[in-house]
Amino acid sequence: MSATPATRPAPVTGPLGPLTRPARTAARWAVRHGLPAVYLSRSARRGDPIGRLMRDPALREQPYGLYEQVRARGPLSASSLGLVTTSHAVAQQVLRSDRFGVGWDRSGAPRTIRWALRFGDDPAAAGVAEPPSMLVVDPPDHTRFRRLVSRAFTPRATAAFEPTIRRTAERLLDDLARRAGTVDLVEAYAAQLPVLVIADLLGVPVARREDFLRWGAAAAATLDPGLPLRRYLVAERALRDMHEFLGDHFARLRRDPGEDLVSRLVTLPPEEALTDRELHATVLLLLGAGFETTVNLLGNAVVLLDAHRGQWDALRAEPAGWEAAVEEVLRLDSPVQLTGRSARAEVELGGRTVAAGTRVTLLLGAANRDPEVFPDPQRFDITRANAREHLAFSGGIHYCLGAGLARLEGAIGLQALSERFPGLRVAGRPVRRNLQTLRGFEVLPVVLR
Ligand code: HEM
Repeated sequence: MSATPATRPAPVTGPLGPLTRPARTAARWAVRHGLPAVYLSRSARRGDPIGRLMRDPALREQPYGLYEQVRARGPLSASSLGLVTTSHAVAQQVLRSDRFGVGWDRSGAPRTIRWALRFGDDPAAAGVAEPPSMLVVDPPDHTRFRRLVSRAFTPRATAAFEPTIRRTAERLLDDLARRAGTVDLVEAYAAQLPVLVIADLLGVPVARREDFLRWGAAAAATLDPGLPLRRYLVAERALRDMHEFLGDHFARLRRDPGEDLVSRLVTLPPEEALTDRELHATVLLLLGAGFETTVNLLGNAVVLLDAHRGQWDALRAEPAGWEAAVEEVLRLDSPVQLTGRSARAEVELGGRTVAAGTRVTLLLGAANRDPEVFPDPQRFDITRANAREHLAFSGGIHYCLGAGLARLEGAIGLQALSERFPGLRVAGRPVRRNLQTLRGFEVLPVVLR
């Protein structure tokens, strides 16, 4: 383990003496998952939409009916976790407003909760939804982190990745062509393409890609509240392994920097340098976000196009349509279904006065089916003129940094697949991932022809 002191948790003393790592883990799980699970289950039994969404496995599989029930209550309605919106306009206003932030004011929480949050804190096990990940910090820190990495994601830098994406896709398809019978497209293609591309961008060894995939799949669960202890322990183990790998990777690049983004981050001049914890949080996010979302875009696209065969054939005839098709997939079956913000001050929203500190859950997957913006919103139509107005990449200052890269991977990856296997069909029942915030397939059996 090469972790520097900043990533190793400081010794902590609780009311009963020094806390061991298992005690910390228990505190982390209890406050982030155990208590929320009890609360959300109770809310679900009372009919609360967020409680039901988080606790009912059937709704995890198919949330869109519930979203319409929430929409029927109006643009902004009460839920067990503050307010909830299905409205595109309200979601967009929240995302773009500096009256809302991602930070969460803990000062109003009960003392025991604050204690558990503090003593459960462990940088060596931190996930992408914990500060100082840029996803969950407000300016000025957010501005500082984002500025340091955004140069690698400009339109020009993204376009330069096109040959890498194409070459990687073709190589994976060559391997696929050698396999007979039914193939799991997620395992063999949809998961591989994004992980290989982000590994290249971050300068991490592609030979470790199966480790990244395993770690990423386990750690993605921490985005959802209410994980059972056993699942949380698997996720935490994966996060520890990832941080350990990153510590070694940073040490290697400090000794022998390359041209990649991470080499630049570890060799910044002192006045710009990130702390070790910030560095871990930033690169963990880039790595995880780089493949845990795009895999869902590719899988969701194949299933939708298999169910709408005429549109698959139309794309075969007119490949220029792939970019628009990707937008329509992102709109109709969004890989990230929800996010949230807290009001930093009193604010008018959706016809109400929202008090400072109020949490608002934005159901992005529902906003992308808002009939006020998208006519006949439940219909899959790759020629939809305004599909790109979706909020699948969020909006405002946290707008997805990798949106351009994901779009390119989607369009190139899907076009290459359709050209190599024009008669590809889904064979058997695809299995959805057991996740709520992210939406995609864990297993996607296809026959290749
Ligand atoms: C289809 C694929 C993808 C989807 C649907 C997606 C979606 C999102 C969403 C919804 C957010 C913002 C969440 C919020 O506002 O709370 C986000 C943020 C982010 N995404 Fe993506 N993403 C995708 C691919 C990627 C890729 C390939 C990368 C590359 C590294 C990436 C990197 C990031 C980063 C760094 C952030 C944080 C930005 C910030 O907080 O300023 N994403 N993404």
